[in-house]
Amino acid sequence: MEKFRRTHMCGELSIKNEGENVEIYGWVNSVRKLGSIIFVVVRDVTGIVQVMFNEVVEKELFKKAESLKSEFVIKVKGQVFSRIKNNQNVKMKTGEVEVRASELVVFSESIVPPFYIKSDVEINETLKMKYRYLDLRRPIMQEKMKLRSDICKFTRNFFWDDNFLEIETPFLIKSTPGGARDFLVPSRIIPNNFYALSQSPQIYKQLLMVAGMDKYFQIVKCFRDEDLRADRQPEFTQIDIELSFVNIENIIEISEKFIKTLFEKILKIEIETPFPRFKFDVALEKYGTDKPDIRFDMQIYDITDIFKKSEFKTFSDAAYVGKKIKAINAVGLSKKITRKTIEEFTEFSKLQGVSYVIYVAFDENVRSNVAKFLKNSELSKLCERLGTKDNDLVLILVGEEKIVQNVLGYIRIEIAKKNELVDKEKYNFLWVTDFPLFEYSERVNKYIATHHPFTAPLCEDFENKKFENIKSKAYDLVLNGFEIAGGSIRINDYFLQKKIFEMLDLSNDEIEKDFGFMLEALKYGVPPHGGIAYGLDRLVMVMSGSNSIRDVISFPKAQNGSEIMSGAPCFVSKNQLDDLNLVLEQLRE
Ligand code: AMO
Repeated sequence: MEKFRRTHMCGELSIKNEGENVEIYGWVNSVRKLGSIIFVVVRDVTGIVQVMFNEVVEKELFKKAESLKSEFVIKVKGQVFSRIKNNQNVKMKTGEVEVRASELVVFSESIVPPFYIKSDVEINETLKMKYRYLDLRRPIMQEKMKLRSDICKFTRNFFWDDNFLEIETPFLIKSTPGGARDFLVPSRIIPNNFYALSQSPQIYKQLLMVAGMDKYFQIVKCFRDEDLRADRQPEFTQIDIELSFVNIENIIEISEKFIKTLFEKILKIEIETPFPRFKFDVALEKYGTDKPDIRFDMQIYDITDIFKKSEFKTFSDAAYVGKKIKAINAVGLSKKITRKTIEEFTEFSKLQGVSYVIYVAFDENVRSNVAKFLKNSELSKLCERLGTKDNDLVLILVGEEKIVQNVLGYIRIEIAKKNELVDKEKYNFLWVTDFPLFEYSERVNKYIATHHPFTAPLCEDFENKKFENIKSKAYDLVLNGFEIAGGSIRINDYFLQKKIFEMLDLSNDEIEKDFGFMLEALKYGVPPHGGIAYGLDRLVMVMSGSNSIRDVISFPKAQNGSEIMSGAPCFVSKNQLDDLNLVLEQLRE
């Protein structure tokens, strides 16, 4: 059988190929008939090129071309000609040339697609997901997939070149407590037992360090049964890294080098290093979040001290009972942030548990919902602290510290979005460090590990501190307000690891049952080690300027976790359940 003999990709053809005989393959992008000429634009993954069929030169071929419709898959043989000046298309990469056809083969016809296969078209989300293979045919989506592939290629080369070993770790693993919910997989061979799909290779990559592998990386799928958000999917991909004989500085150094070279090579953008570092507490204090977007300023200021003795009881009473008064300054936006928006912020804040929301607009006359209660001396102190000028709008929230910070953090982002304060061309990286080792979980009513229980405490005398004051050797890398990576230095001491499990309120039996194998490994000579994992999907999302990680995942899950195209998840047959020794509640009757 004769081989396919593609000579060029569509997007490659240029004036340099003038006169050459070529054979191209692709999809019919558009067909235009002008009397005795038919122009067919053919598209493949590299771009488009115009093909011309001339009735006068090739009558039979012309007839065949008349049957072509959008999305037919074809082969064209022909010769490359320079287009006459008037017909050149400067917007098209191959716009100087056209292929004059001498042979046409239709491999496959297409019915009319449910949406236009072009980049600049609004498509209903459900339709997009149902016909994802057509969505992915659009050049804009192909570019995103290509970018993702380039990033993976770069990543592999970067770590291979630095003598990291790429090692696969299992997906079907033991379910352990803590972290997100597991996806469970029933075992057929060992009835009534379940695997969990790996939430991350955490334990295995640490065991690889115990095994002496020194430097490990993997581009790996992770599975977490969490609620979805624009930057969250139940299955996502990590660039996972672990190294022996390292501390925080080593991990930060290698990460910054990785990011700097990645952006330089892939986006041709210079990224300045070292990245600024914020301690967790400072990030919360200044920006109300542990993943601040500092492409714009609008810091949060504590102004409790200014108002704690105020005659305005709303302030002084709140301060007296330990509540906090905090503010942000929306510079120059006093006329742009409408009364309605302030009402929306107020409503949202109250729902979150904020006690009071106050605004002060510095127009020609100061406007405020509590104008008559504010003394000039207090106002001028406020202005001095926040650096206010004419046309600024100050929003003041009163309430429990954590709530106020959190809500101001949210409002800060909303104001920036609505008023286009964010420079979309900017890539702003920062580290958040000194995370608390433990955090209180209302869901399980006890302290849980903030990162994971293998993270090392920051200082040695941690046992004498209150739980919420114990800091850890964990760090996150934040890009434009997205947590794109997280990691830590791990515990490499058996007794310390056991102590941490105990502090997490695990009984000896639970420790043995869930983590016995891990503790056992810590008895056999463990190097100091640490690592980090990048959310590949989030990284590609930001690098491609997408709004959601769904745009950079080939076949993502919809909001409710389903895959609309194939219909996963779905019921399975009784036979399959029987094999697994499973009975569903609804089928029990
Ligand atoms: P962590 O849980 O912080 O750390 O995950 C690392 C990074 O993975 C990305 N990420 C996600 N991306 C999309 N959808 C999700 N549901 C999702 N969850 C996490 C984020 C995050 O920063 N084993 C540790 C890493 C380590 O300590 O080395 C871990 O998994 O970008």
